[in-house]
Amino acid sequence: MSTSAEPGRTWPLVGRAAELDDLDDLLSTAADGVGVTVLLEGEAGVGKTSLVDALRGSARLLDVELRTARATEMRAWPFALLSDALLVRSGRSSRGPVEAELTDLLDAIYADPVRSVARYDRAAELFAALLRRRGDSRPWALVLEDVHEADAPSLEVLLQLAHEGAVPRALVVLTMRPVPYRPELAEVVAAWTRAGARYLELRPLNARATVELAENLVGTPVGPALRGTLATTGGNPRLVADVVRTARAAGALVTTDGVLDSTGVRWLTPLDEVVRRRVEYLGPEVLALLGQASVLGSSFVIADLASLAGDPVGDCWRTLRHGLAAGVVRARGDRLVFGHDLVRGALYNGLEPDQRRALHARAAWALRQAGAPAQIVTAHLERAR
Ligand SMILES: Nc1ncnc2c1ncn2[C@@H]1O[C@H](COP(=O)(O)OP(=O)(O)OP(=O)(O)O)[C@@H](O)[C@H]1O
Ligand SMILES: [Mg+2]
Repeated sequence: MSTSAEPGRTWPLVGRAAELDDLDDLLSTAADGVGVTVLLEGEAGVGKTSLVDALRGSARLLDVELRTARATEMRAWPFALLSDALLVRSGRSSRGPVEAELTDLLDAIYADPVRSVARYDRAAELFAALLRRRGDSRPWALVLEDVHEADAPSLEVLLQLAHEGAVPRALVVLTMRPVPYRPELAEVVAAWTRAGARYLELRPLNARATVELAENLVGTPVGPALRGTLATTGGNPRLVADVVRTARAAGALVTTDGVLDSTGVRWLTPLDEVVRRRVEYLGPEVLALLGQASVLGSSFVIADLASLAGDPVGDCWRTLRHGLAAGVVRARGDRLVFGHDLVRGALYNGLEPDQRRALHARAAWALRQAGAPAQIVTAHLERAR
């Protein structure tokens, strides 16, 4: 199967029947010669790659050629995403004139550090032509993964294409995380939305699918303690896999009467570390504020966080916007709720003890000012010692 598979992949996918049906239908539409574009968005680790990987089977059945490429920070040079998708795998001999010209042009672009507008424009024009004409002979599918990290010239081509409408006789799927926010990507998304692209938001798994995924990973039913930890993953499949893998690696899994469960709490420390690494991409400023918020509990009032942090409410919102987009916290009126208690706990446990005590002291003060009940204030004061 795909090289992008992470350890922990289970097959078939859990809890994604509806989404897979949707994508399969759209692929059939493309196979019938109609261009379709899909914007697939979802938080980190929610299963975007797994879902688009599942298209491979259907593409084979429908005899639709599937091209995929993934943008990464490491491959951010001009046109990297599109050349990975369209050029890299065609051997020199099978290249048409457009591909050949593009390859030479890209060589020239990469060899010359001075940006030549003429070369860039020509390359953009050729990529657009390649995309538009590729379906002439037979329908095809193009999956461009993680476009939030795409190089700017590739995004520019995608933007220009959107102004002309769906790519003829192709299913084009763009996958993206909601963060980092990039204005040039927002422009591409808006343009494709105007061009009638389908928006598919991939949501976390529900509670039942979360347990099912864990049971598929371990191959047996799982017991109450492990279910308890699984319930804190917020239905994020990557976090589910992290829980299972960390528990197993720490030797914390035992089987009793055919039911596998976790024992003890020692394995939760390495789990916290794994989880903290998972949210590192949010950046230090957002993480620092979320760490402060973790002291207030799973859900908290933003004004209380502002007093705790000593910042205006508006600043807190601005910083947390990225956490909101990432699904790490969710807004409910003027309250925020952590999307995955596992993340909240990991951030809380990651605070330095002195800092944690000081934050509890400040929380007690802020909550008393805001009229919180005495026992809540006392609980914070106890943890401030
Ligand atoms: N529905 C599912 N059933 C079983 N396993 C899944 C499912 N969705 C995701 N996984 C597993 O969870 C992990 C993360 O999934 P995946 O890589 O597809 O997420 P992603 O949304 O592409 O993440 P990223 O934002 O980092 O690209 C993988 O190990 C994958 O195999
Ligand atoms: Mg992915």
